[in-house]
Amino acid sequence: MDMILIQQLKPQWQFKMNISHLVALSNNSVIGVNNDLPWTLKRDLKHFSSYTQNKAIVMGRKTFDSIGRPLPNRKNIVMTRSPQDREGVTEVTSVEDAIDEAKIFSQTINIIGGEYIYKEFLPIATKLIITEVGLNINSPDAYFPEWSTEEWKEVSRTASSENGIKFSFVEYLKI
Ligand SMILES: NC(=O)c1ccc[n+]([C@@H]2O[C@H](COP(=O)([O-])OP(=O)(O)OC[C@H]3O[C@@H](n4cnc5c(N)ncnc54)[C@H](OP(=O)(O)O)[C@@H]3O)[C@@H](O)[C@H]2O)c1
Repeated sequence: MDMILIQQLKPQWQFKMNISHLVALSNNSVIGVNNDLPWTLKRDLKHFSSYTQNKAIVMGRKTFDSIGRPLPNRKNIVMTRSPQDREGVTEVTSVEDAIDEAKIFSQTINIIGGEYIYKEFLPIATKLIITEVGLNINSPDAYFPEWSTEEWKEVSRTASSENGIKFSFVEYLKI
């Protein structure tokens, strides 16, 4: 329902803003286990940090709980249906309000998860910044939503590894 509303209400968003999904996912599209990342990859965290500096980041309340604090030098926008005046963040109760808050701060809006938030913003995303982690993860609690490779063009890929785990930083643009 939310996805339809996004497309119907403000289609001009798609042309005025860069909406980037930043995500690290496993071979089987897993992004989380027990409300945490399934791996520790310092290089990926650095990549995430440098990409999001001085931009708005939009996350779900569970992802915010998992991170545990506002991330510095960024406008932290937390989506929740039960706002609680969390310190250092802007709480919003809808996709529309998230975009309105984010666009005041930066032209690029980074969608940083989790599963629900990725899903709700995917129809209006313009870029996917994916860390493809070469692991299969069991007992997940969150996945990246299905997306069609036919709608996206791979524009860059950089391979890396850490602690014996292979991964690649990959960027896709909406065709
Ligand atoms: N690998 C990665 O790159 C990555 C990135 C981020 C997160 N993760 C993982 O993803 C998992 C968390 O994802 P998740 O899907 O369970 O939770 P989530 O998307 O982070 O948060 C879900 C919450 O967001 C709020 N929400 C969702 N849609 C909303 C809307 N339209 N309006 C208002 N509020 C809305 C609700 O909060 P309330 O319940 O407060 O109403 C909902 O319970 C964790 O395991 C985390 O570690 C992984």
